[in-house]
Amino acid sequence: MVLACPGANILLPRPCFPSYDAHALSNNLEVRYFDLISEKGWEVDIEGVEALADENTVAMVVINPGNPCGSVYTHQHLKKIAETARKLGILVVADEVYHHLSFGTNPFVPMGVFGSIVPVITLGSISKRWLVPGWRLGWLVTSDPNGILQKSKIVECIMGRLNLTSGPPTFIQGAVPQILEKTGEDFFSKVIDILREAAHICYDRIMEIPCITCPNKPEGSMFVMVKLNPSLLEDIIDDMDFCQKLAKEDSVIVLPDAAYCLPCFVFHNPNGVVGQNAFIVGGFRSWKKVGGKDCYFQRHIGKDPNSAHRVAEQMYKDLMNQSQNLQRVVDHFTTEQIANNRLQLKATIFIVRYLAFQAIAFRGNDESFSSLNGGNFLESLGIVTFWNEKVDEIIEKSPTNATYTTPRIQKEILHVFLAKVKKTIREEIGDAKFCIMVDEARDESMKEQMAMVFRYVDAEGFVKERFFGLIHVVDIAALTLKKGIYSLT
Ligand SMILES: Cc1ncc(COP(=O)(O)O)c(C=O)c1O
Repeated sequence: MVLACPGANILLPRPCFPSYDAHALSNNLEVRYFDLISEKGWEVDIEGVEALADENTVAMVVINPGNPCGSVYTHQHLKKIAETARKLGILVVADEVYHHLSFGTNPFVPMGVFGSIVPVITLGSISKRWLVPGWRLGWLVTSDPNGILQKSKIVECIMGRLNLTSGPPTFIQGAVPQILEKTGEDFFSKVIDILREAAHICYDRIMEIPCITCPNKPEGSMFVMVKLNPSLLEDIIDDMDFCQKLAKEDSVIVLPDAAYCLPCFVFHNPNGVVGQNAFIVGGFRSWKKVGGKDCYFQRHIGKDPNSAHRVAEQMYKDLMNQSQNLQRVVDHFTTEQIANNRLQLKATIFIVRYLAFQAIAFRGNDESFSSLNGGNFLESLGIVTFWNEKVDEIIEKSPTNATYTTPRIQKEILHVFLAKVKKTIREEIGDAKFCIMVDEARDESMKEQMAMVFRYVDAEGFVKERFFGLIHVVDIAALTLKKGIYSLT
């Protein structure tokens, strides 16, 4: 937020702790990725950094010990990073939330020791070393003996922003002094021992698995970075398939390397985001196209305030807005209102069932309020309300958009019956043999129609003939009728 002036960009490692991308993108800060080189212990590709930076680059992020690669950088490499940043005129954001959690050959060196070469803002967190994940309590330390950050007012700006955020709750803050003062050395050494052993076991076991390679044994943090070769796996199509089967067979959840856009997925507009369907179907995987001026994420979002993504995003926000949530509005009713509502709906269901069973038409010629004969449905409802004062009173008071009497509601209820009857017929037939009788005829309006009846022997041994449905067909060719039969079953 502090660094996001218009047109600015920030350099992030690839692979990276994903929060950085998300925060930068949501603050319109352009992201450019420099590679971490697996063959060199996940060191920063210094040449890549130099090639990426320009006059609008404000900072680079260095995560050490590394998430997600488990790397710990040497003094020499960190110095090189500092010198490169100085050459490029950018500051270093040193994410050291895994400080103290190193257990390999390289001792941990804080980036701040190079503060005289380049200004460094270091991030620390209580969540890792003290094992209190989710407490969201951390600190920023500046290493800036030359006063560059002070002069550029970055520190002032950070202080201003800190006052805006909703920090951790008071009781968590209250616990911090005790935690910092009273946690014994044995706790820390135990944590390190566990991490070292876990890294050791992970690495050794991984080495035994032919389809997974691990370029570097973890030396710090809590992660191990591996590469999967799905072509060596039987019965696995791709990484998505791998993740799904791993979850199903071994209850291990890993995320496939694919990005989706939730708002666009939920409010998919087929005409909206041309060529960007990857974010909705199949998943986006072209990670090389993320970041930089032509970032695919930014392209998906679109510059137009009314772009398909932004429209979907707004609709999604409305959906998540709890005060407008349908459930909340429904929950808002009293039990008496709910009971009344049910009674009113029951009256409609009762009439629909009666008319359907007697094969009587529902609608009348004139269903207006002043009509003397509103058709069978409305007239039947009139009888119910005439003899049942309670129903009459409820219908009288109900809002006009909730009377449950419109033809659409009648049809929907009829369809519920239809689905239930069809289900019962299907269950009655089960796996037994049955025959289909199709009667093809024209209706009054000269449209071809076909009625379908099933004949079968039910569980008690009786022969039954059950009408299953009626559909209009454009012609009576065998193929059309076959399609019609499929559409009904
Ligand atoms: C590299 C890195 N930076 C920052 C954080 C955020 O730490 P916190 O738990 O204090 O929010 C994490 C958390 O996993 C992390 O892995």
